Amino acid sequence: MDTQQSLPLLGGLSPAQFMRRHWQKKPLLVRQAIAQFAPPVLRSELFALAAQDGVESRLVQSAKGVWKLRHGPFARRSLPALSQPQWTLLVQGVDLHNDAVHALMQQFRFVPEARLDDLMISYATDGGGVGPHFDSYDVFLLQAHGKRRWRIGRQKELQLREGIPLKVLAKFEPEEEYVLEPGDMLYLPPGYAHDGIAEGECMTYSVGFKVPSRAELAQELLVRLAEDAGDEDKPLLYRDARQEAVVQPGAIPEALQGFAREALDRALAQPLVLECALGEYLTEPKPNVWFEPGEPGVMLEGVRLDRRTRMMYDTHHVFINGESYRAGGRDATLMRRLADVRQLTAREMARASDDALELLSSWCDAGWVQPWAG
Ligand code: SIN
Ligand code: CO
Repeated sequence: MDTQQSLPLLGGLSPAQFMRRHWQKKPLLVRQAIAQFAPPVLRSELFALAAQDGVESRLVQSAKGVWKLRHGPFARRSLPALSQPQWTLLVQGVDLHNDAVHALMQQFRFVPEARLDDLMISYATDGGGVGPHFDSYDVFLLQAHGKRRWRIGRQKELQLREGIPLKVLAKFEPEEEYVLEPGDMLYLPPGYAHDGIAEGECMTYSVGFKVPSRAELAQELLVRLAEDAGDEDKPLLYRDARQEAVVQPGAIPEALQGFAREALDRALAQPLVLECALGEYLTEPKPNVWFEPGEPGVMLEGVRLDRRTRMMYDTHHVFINGESYRAGGRDATLMRRLADVRQLTAREMARASDDALELLSSWCDAGWVQPWAG
Protein backbone atom coordinates (compact mmCIF):
# COMPACT_ATOMS: atom_id res chain seq x y z
CA MET A 1 0.00 0.00 0.00
CA ASP A 2 1.23 3.48 -0.87
CA THR A 3 1.10 5.23 2.51
CA GLN A 4 1.41 8.69 0.88
CA GLN A 5 -1.60 8.36 -1.38
CA SER A 6 -4.75 10.22 -0.39
CA LEU A 7 -7.67 7.83 0.18
CA PRO A 8 -11.45 8.38 0.13
CA LEU A 9 -11.50 5.80 2.96
CA LEU A 10 -9.71 8.35 5.15
CA GLY A 11 -11.58 11.42 3.88
CA GLY A 12 -8.78 12.38 1.49
CA LEU A 13 -5.97 11.91 4.00
CA SER A 14 -3.15 9.57 3.15
CA PRO A 15 -2.51 6.70 5.58
CA ALA A 16 0.66 8.53 6.65
CA GLN A 17 -1.31 11.71 7.45
CA PHE A 18 -4.05 9.77 9.21
CA MET A 19 -1.55 7.96 11.42
CA ARG A 20 0.22 11.22 12.30
CA ARG A 21 -2.86 13.31 12.98
CA HIS A 22 -5.57 10.95 14.21
CA TRP A 23 -4.35 7.48 15.21
CA GLN A 24 -4.56 7.18 19.00
CA LYS A 25 -5.13 10.95 19.14
CA LYS A 26 -8.45 12.28 17.85
CA PRO A 27 -11.61 11.16 16.05
CA LEU A 28 -12.15 11.42 12.33
CA LEU A 29 -15.54 11.49 10.65
CA VAL A 30 -15.48 10.47 6.98
CA ARG A 31 -18.57 10.94 4.87
CA GLN A 32 -18.73 8.33 2.10
CA ALA A 33 -15.52 6.58 3.11
CA ILE A 34 -16.81 3.81 0.86
CA ALA A 35 -19.12 5.30 -1.75
CA GLN A 36 -22.10 3.15 -2.77
CA PHE A 37 -21.13 0.67 -0.10
CA ALA A 38 -22.78 -2.67 -0.74
CA PRO A 39 -22.61 -4.56 2.57
CA PRO A 40 -21.32 -8.08 1.93
CA VAL A 41 -23.34 -9.69 4.76
CA LEU A 42 -27.14 -9.83 4.68
CA ARG A 43 -29.17 -9.72 7.85
CA SER A 44 -30.14 -13.37 7.39
CA GLU A 45 -26.47 -14.33 6.94
CA LEU A 46 -25.53 -12.49 10.12
CA PHE A 47 -28.28 -14.28 12.05
CA ALA A 48 -27.06 -17.61 10.62
CA LEU A 49 -23.53 -16.85 11.83
CA ALA A 50 -24.84 -15.95 15.29
CA ALA A 51 -26.48 -19.39 15.44
CA GLN A 52 -23.15 -21.19 14.95
CA ASP A 53 -21.02 -22.68 17.71
CA GLY A 54 -17.58 -21.14 17.72
CA VAL A 55 -18.85 -17.73 16.61
CA GLU A 56 -18.83 -15.15 19.38
CA SER A 57 -22.09 -13.25 19.56
CA ARG A 58 -24.01 -11.12 22.07
CA LEU A 59 -27.53 -9.80 22.31
CA VAL A 60 -28.11 -6.49 24.08
CA GLN A 61 -31.56 -5.25 24.95
CA SER A 62 -32.56 -2.09 26.70
CA ALA A 63 -35.89 -0.77 27.83
CA LYS A 64 -36.60 2.02 30.30
CA GLY A 65 -33.03 2.06 31.62
CA VAL A 66 -32.91 -1.73 32.15
CA TRP A 67 -30.09 -3.42 30.24
CA LYS A 68 -30.00 -7.12 29.42
CA LEU A 69 -27.08 -9.06 27.93
CA ARG A 70 -27.09 -12.63 26.59
CA HIS A 71 -24.27 -14.57 24.94
CA GLY A 72 -24.74 -16.71 21.79
CA PRO A 73 -25.03 -18.94 19.91
CA PHE A 74 -28.59 -17.82 19.17
CA ALA A 75 -31.09 -19.97 17.30
CA ARG A 76 -33.04 -17.67 14.96
CA ARG A 77 -36.24 -18.13 16.94
CA SER A 78 -34.49 -17.10 20.17
CA LEU A 79 -33.82 -13.60 18.80
CA PRO A 80 -36.47 -10.93 19.47
CA ALA A 81 -38.93 -10.08 16.67
CA LEU A 82 -37.66 -7.65 14.03
CA SER A 83 -40.62 -5.42 14.87
CA GLN A 84 -39.45 -5.12 18.47
CA PRO A 85 -37.37 -1.95 19.02
CA GLN A 86 -34.17 -1.46 21.04
CA TRP A 87 -32.23 -4.65 20.57
CA THR A 88 -28.77 -5.25 19.12
CA LEU A 89 -27.06 -8.40 17.97
CA LEU A 90 -23.25 -8.18 17.89
CA VAL A 91 -21.23 -10.79 16.01
CA GLN A 92 -17.48 -10.79 16.52
CA GLY A 93 -14.77 -11.97 14.09
CA VAL A 94 -16.91 -11.98 10.92
CA ASP A 95 -13.70 -11.59 8.87
CA LEU A 96 -12.82 -15.18 9.83
CA HIS A 97 -16.01 -16.49 8.24
CA ASN A 98 -16.55 -14.38 5.16
CA ASP A 99 -14.01 -13.68 2.39
CA ALA A 100 -15.60 -10.38 1.33
CA VAL A 101 -15.53 -9.06 4.92
CA HIS A 102 -11.94 -10.23 5.23
CA ALA A 103 -11.11 -8.36 2.01
CA LEU A 104 -12.81 -5.21 3.35
CA MET A 105 -10.66 -5.35 6.46
CA GLN A 106 -7.51 -5.48 4.32
CA GLN A 107 -8.09 -1.81 3.46
CA PHE A 108 -6.97 -1.03 7.02
CA ARG A 109 -3.60 -2.76 6.68
CA PHE A 110 -1.78 0.56 6.73
CA VAL A 111 -1.79 -0.35 10.44
CA PRO A 112 0.54 -3.28 11.25
CA GLU A 113 -1.16 -6.65 11.11
CA ALA A 114 -0.01 -7.28 14.68
CA ARG A 115 -2.45 -4.56 15.78
CA LEU A 116 -5.45 -5.58 13.67
CA ASP A 117 -7.96 -7.65 15.59
CA ASP A 118 -11.26 -8.37 13.92
CA LEU A 119 -14.34 -7.06 12.20
CA MET A 120 -17.51 -7.07 14.29
CA ILE A 121 -20.94 -6.56 12.78
CA SER A 122 -23.82 -5.23 14.82
CA TYR A 123 -27.45 -5.42 13.76
CA ALA A 124 -29.94 -3.21 15.60
CA THR A 125 -33.61 -2.44 15.47
CA ASP A 126 -34.84 1.13 15.96
CA GLY A 127 -33.40 2.67 19.13
CA GLY A 128 -30.94 -0.20 19.61
CA GLY A 129 -27.44 0.38 20.98
CA VAL A 130 -25.05 -0.83 23.62
CA GLY A 131 -25.18 2.34 25.73
CA PRO A 132 -22.64 5.12 26.22
CA HIS A 133 -19.22 3.58 26.86
CA PHE A 134 -15.56 3.74 25.93
CA ASP A 135 -13.31 1.04 24.52
CA SER A 136 -9.65 0.44 25.30
CA TYR A 137 -8.83 0.05 21.59
CA ASP A 138 -9.00 2.14 18.42
CA VAL A 139 -12.02 1.49 16.26
CA PHE A 140 -13.32 2.36 12.79
CA LEU A 141 -17.13 2.35 12.82
CA LEU A 142 -18.35 1.90 9.27
CA GLN A 143 -22.07 2.36 8.69
CA ALA A 144 -23.24 -0.50 6.49
CA HIS A 145 -27.02 -0.29 6.40
CA GLY A 146 -29.59 2.22 7.70
CA LYS A 147 -28.68 5.11 9.96
CA ARG A 148 -27.01 5.40 13.35
CA ARG A 149 -26.77 8.51 15.49
CA TRP A 150 -23.38 8.70 17.21
CA ARG A 151 -22.77 11.00 20.14
CA ILE A 152 -19.12 11.19 21.16
CA GLY A 153 -17.01 13.02 23.73
CA ARG A 154 -13.72 13.16 25.57
CA GLN A 155 -15.17 11.90 28.80
CA LYS A 156 -13.42 12.83 32.04
CA GLU A 157 -15.86 11.17 34.41
CA LEU A 158 -15.25 7.48 33.70
CA GLN A 159 -17.47 6.01 36.40
CA LEU A 160 -19.65 3.15 35.16
CA ARG A 161 -23.24 2.39 36.07
CA GLU A 162 -23.46 -0.26 38.74
CA GLY A 163 -25.59 -3.37 38.76
CA ILE A 164 -25.93 -3.83 34.99
CA PRO A 165 -24.25 -6.50 32.85
CA LEU A 166 -22.64 -4.00 30.43
CA LYS A 167 -20.06 -1.27 30.75
CA VAL A 168 -22.23 1.83 30.51
CA LEU A 169 -21.02 5.28 31.59
CA ALA A 170 -22.87 6.68 34.58
CA LYS A 171 -22.72 10.31 33.37
CA PHE A 172 -22.12 10.58 29.65
CA GLU A 173 -21.33 14.09 28.44
CA PRO A 174 -21.30 14.07 24.63
CA GLU A 175 -19.58 16.91 22.79
CA GLU A 176 -20.43 16.10 19.18
CA GLU A 177 -23.19 14.31 17.36
CA TYR A 178 -23.32 12.80 13.87
CA VAL A 179 -25.83 10.71 11.98
CA LEU A 180 -23.99 8.14 9.87
CA GLU A 181 -25.48 6.82 6.66
CA PRO A 182 -24.32 3.80 4.63
CA GLY A 183 -20.68 4.22 3.56
CA ASP A 184 -19.92 6.85 6.28
CA MET A 185 -17.25 6.02 8.83
CA LEU A 186 -16.17 7.30 12.24
CA TYR A 187 -12.71 6.61 13.67
CA LEU A 188 -12.36 6.81 17.46
CA PRO A 189 -9.14 6.55 19.44
CA PRO A 190 -9.01 4.44 22.61
CA GLY A 191 -10.86 5.84 25.61
CA TYR A 192 -13.09 8.18 23.57
CA ALA A 193 -16.65 7.88 24.88
CA HIS A 194 -19.37 7.05 22.37
CA ASP A 195 -23.00 6.09 22.13
CA GLY A 196 -24.51 4.88 18.86
CA ILE A 197 -28.26 4.62 18.57
CA ALA A 198 -29.94 3.02 15.57
CA GLU A 199 -32.47 5.15 13.69
CA GLY A 200 -34.58 2.43 12.19
CA GLU A 201 -33.01 -0.91 11.25
CA CYS A 202 -29.23 -0.53 11.16
CA MET A 203 -26.02 -2.46 10.63
CA THR A 204 -22.59 -1.18 11.67
CA TYR A 205 -19.20 -2.75 10.98
CA SER A 206 -16.46 -2.16 13.59
CA VAL A 207 -12.84 -2.74 12.66
CA GLY A 208 -11.22 -3.25 16.05
CA PHE A 209 -7.59 -3.40 17.10
CA LYS A 210 -5.59 -5.49 19.53
CA VAL A 211 -4.06 -3.67 22.44
CA PRO A 212 -1.81 -6.04 24.31
CA SER A 213 -1.25 -4.93 27.88
CA ARG A 214 2.17 -5.15 29.43
CA ALA A 215 0.91 -7.69 31.96
CA GLU A 216 -0.66 -9.90 29.27
CA LEU A 217 2.49 -9.83 27.13
CA ALA A 218 4.72 -10.63 30.11
CA GLN A 219 2.51 -13.57 31.04
CA GLU A 220 2.30 -14.99 27.51
CA LEU A 221 5.99 -14.51 26.77
CA LEU A 222 7.21 -15.90 30.07
CA VAL A 223 5.20 -19.10 29.54
CA ARG A 224 6.72 -19.50 26.07
CA LEU A 225 10.22 -18.68 27.31
CA ALA A 226 9.90 -21.29 30.02
CA GLU A 227 8.86 -23.89 27.44
CA ASP A 228 11.86 -22.96 25.31
CA ALA A 229 14.29 -22.92 28.23
CA GLY A 230 15.21 -26.39 27.08
CA ASP A 231 15.99 -28.20 30.32
CA GLU A 232 12.75 -30.14 30.48
CA ASP A 233 14.34 -33.53 29.65
CA LYS A 234 17.08 -33.03 32.18
CA PRO A 235 15.85 -30.38 34.59
CA LEU A 236 18.48 -28.35 36.37
CA LEU A 237 17.55 -28.76 40.00
CA TYR A 238 18.20 -26.39 42.86
CA ARG A 239 20.94 -27.63 45.20
CA ASP A 240 21.70 -26.29 48.64
CA ALA A 241 24.41 -28.50 50.10
CA ARG A 242 25.57 -25.51 52.15
CA GLN A 243 22.17 -24.68 53.62
CA GLU A 244 22.54 -24.17 57.35
CA ALA A 245 19.95 -25.21 59.93
CA VAL A 246 17.43 -22.39 60.41
CA VAL A 247 15.52 -21.02 63.36
CA GLN A 248 13.22 -19.05 61.05
CA PRO A 249 11.92 -21.73 58.66
CA GLY A 250 9.39 -19.31 57.16
CA ALA A 251 12.09 -17.17 55.55
CA ILE A 252 12.78 -17.81 51.85
CA PRO A 253 16.48 -18.57 51.32
CA GLU A 254 18.34 -15.86 49.41
CA ALA A 255 20.05 -18.56 47.36
CA LEU A 256 16.67 -19.75 46.12
CA GLN A 257 15.79 -16.18 45.10
CA GLY A 258 19.08 -16.04 43.21
CA PHE A 259 18.32 -19.38 41.51
CA ALA A 260 14.91 -18.07 40.41
CA ARG A 261 16.39 -14.84 39.05
CA GLU A 262 19.08 -16.76 37.18
CA ALA A 263 16.42 -19.03 35.64
CA LEU A 264 14.67 -15.98 34.18
CA ASP A 265 17.89 -14.25 33.14
CA ARG A 266 19.04 -17.39 31.32
CA ALA A 267 15.72 -17.86 29.55
CA LEU A 268 15.86 -14.24 28.35
CA ALA A 269 19.55 -14.36 27.45
CA GLN A 270 19.08 -16.86 24.61
CA PRO A 271 19.49 -14.94 21.38
CA LEU A 272 16.22 -13.97 19.66
CA VAL A 273 14.12 -16.05 22.04
CA LEU A 274 11.93 -13.10 23.00
CA GLU A 275 11.39 -12.01 19.38
CA CYS A 276 10.55 -15.58 18.45
CA ALA A 277 8.06 -16.02 21.30
CA LEU A 278 6.42 -12.69 20.44
CA GLY A 279 5.95 -13.62 16.77
CA GLU A 280 4.51 -17.00 17.68
CA TYR A 281 2.12 -15.40 20.16
CA LEU A 282 0.99 -12.67 17.74
CA THR A 283 0.22 -15.15 14.97
CA GLU A 284 -1.50 -17.73 17.16
CA PRO A 285 -4.99 -18.34 15.72
CA LYS A 286 -7.90 -17.52 18.05
CA PRO A 287 -9.17 -20.54 20.00
CA ASN A 288 -12.31 -20.95 17.86
CA VAL A 289 -10.38 -21.05 14.56
CA TRP A 290 -9.78 -24.24 12.65
CA PHE A 291 -8.56 -24.89 9.12
CA GLU A 292 -9.93 -27.26 6.53
CA PRO A 293 -7.03 -29.38 5.24
CA GLY A 294 -6.26 -28.85 1.56
CA GLU A 295 -6.13 -31.57 -1.07
CA PRO A 296 -2.73 -33.23 -0.82
CA GLY A 297 -0.36 -33.16 -3.78
CA VAL A 298 -1.98 -30.19 -5.57
CA MET A 299 0.45 -28.44 -7.95
CA LEU A 300 1.15 -24.98 -6.62
CA GLU A 301 1.42 -22.23 -9.16
CA GLY A 302 0.41 -19.17 -7.20
CA VAL A 303 -0.72 -19.24 -3.55
CA ARG A 304 -2.78 -17.07 -1.27
CA LEU A 305 -3.23 -17.12 2.47
CA ASP A 306 -6.47 -18.50 3.84
CA ARG A 307 -8.51 -15.67 5.40
CA ARG A 308 -7.95 -17.23 8.84
CA THR A 309 -4.16 -17.37 8.52
CA ARG A 310 -2.09 -14.94 10.51
CA MET A 311 1.37 -14.39 9.03
CA MET A 312 4.05 -11.90 10.12
CA TYR A 313 7.82 -11.64 10.17
CA ASP A 314 10.76 -10.00 11.87
CA THR A 315 14.40 -9.62 10.85
CA HIS A 316 15.25 -13.27 11.42
CA HIS A 317 11.97 -15.19 11.33
CA VAL A 318 8.78 -15.82 9.50
CA PHE A 319 5.75 -16.59 11.67
CA ILE A 320 2.59 -18.29 10.57
CA ASN A 321 -0.30 -19.44 12.75
CA GLY A 322 1.80 -19.69 15.90
CA GLU A 323 4.84 -21.37 14.29
CA SER A 324 8.21 -19.81 13.59
CA TYR A 325 10.78 -20.45 10.87
CA ARG A 326 14.26 -19.01 10.50
CA ALA A 327 14.47 -17.45 7.08
CA GLY A 328 17.17 -15.66 5.12
CA GLY A 329 18.06 -14.68 1.56
CA ARG A 330 15.65 -14.96 -1.35
CA ASP A 331 13.22 -17.23 0.48
CA ALA A 332 12.89 -14.71 3.30
CA THR A 333 12.08 -11.98 0.74
CA LEU A 334 9.42 -14.21 -0.77
CA MET A 335 7.86 -15.19 2.56
CA ARG A 336 7.81 -11.56 3.70
CA ARG A 337 6.00 -10.64 0.54
CA LEU A 338 3.47 -13.40 1.22
CA ALA A 339 2.93 -11.99 4.73
CA ASP A 340 2.59 -8.41 3.41
CA VAL A 341 0.30 -8.95 0.43
CA ARG A 342 -1.12 -12.36 1.42
CA GLN A 343 -0.57 -13.86 -2.01
CA LEU A 344 2.21 -14.91 -4.40
CA THR A 345 1.86 -15.07 -8.15
CA ALA A 346 3.10 -18.01 -10.22
CA ARG A 347 5.96 -15.79 -11.40
CA GLU A 348 7.00 -15.02 -7.80
CA MET A 349 6.70 -18.69 -6.88
CA ALA A 350 9.10 -19.59 -9.67
CA ARG A 351 11.87 -17.94 -7.61
CA ALA A 352 11.22 -20.10 -4.52
CA SER A 353 13.81 -22.68 -3.44
CA ASP A 354 12.82 -26.35 -3.13
CA ASP A 355 12.74 -25.94 0.66
CA ALA A 356 10.39 -22.98 0.41
CA LEU A 357 8.15 -24.84 -2.03
CA GLU A 358 8.03 -27.81 0.31
CA LEU A 359 7.06 -25.56 3.21
CA LEU A 360 4.35 -23.86 1.16
CA SER A 361 3.04 -27.21 0.09
CA SER A 362 2.83 -28.39 3.73
CA TRP A 363 0.95 -25.17 4.63
CA CYS A 364 -1.35 -25.93 1.73
CA ASP A 365 -2.01 -29.42 3.11
CA ALA A 366 -2.81 -27.85 6.48
CA GLY A 367 -5.27 -25.45 4.83
CA TRP A 368 -3.22 -22.37 5.81
CA VAL A 369 -2.60 -21.38 2.20
CA GLN A 370 -4.55 -22.19 -0.94
CA PRO A 371 -3.54 -22.68 -4.54
CA TRP A 372 -4.24 -19.51 -6.46
CA ALA A 373 -4.19 -18.90 -10.17
CA GLY A 374 -2.49 -15.50 -9.90
C1 SIN B 1 -22.33 -1.18 17.89
O1 SIN B 1 -21.95 -1.41 16.73
O2 SIN B 1 -23.52 -1.22 18.20
C2 SIN B 1 -21.37 -0.85 18.97
C3 SIN B 1 -19.99 -0.63 18.52
C4 SIN B 1 -19.20 0.15 19.56
O3 SIN B 1 -19.73 1.02 20.20
O4 SIN B 1 -18.01 -0.08 19.75
CO1 CO C 1 -17.56 0.92 21.43
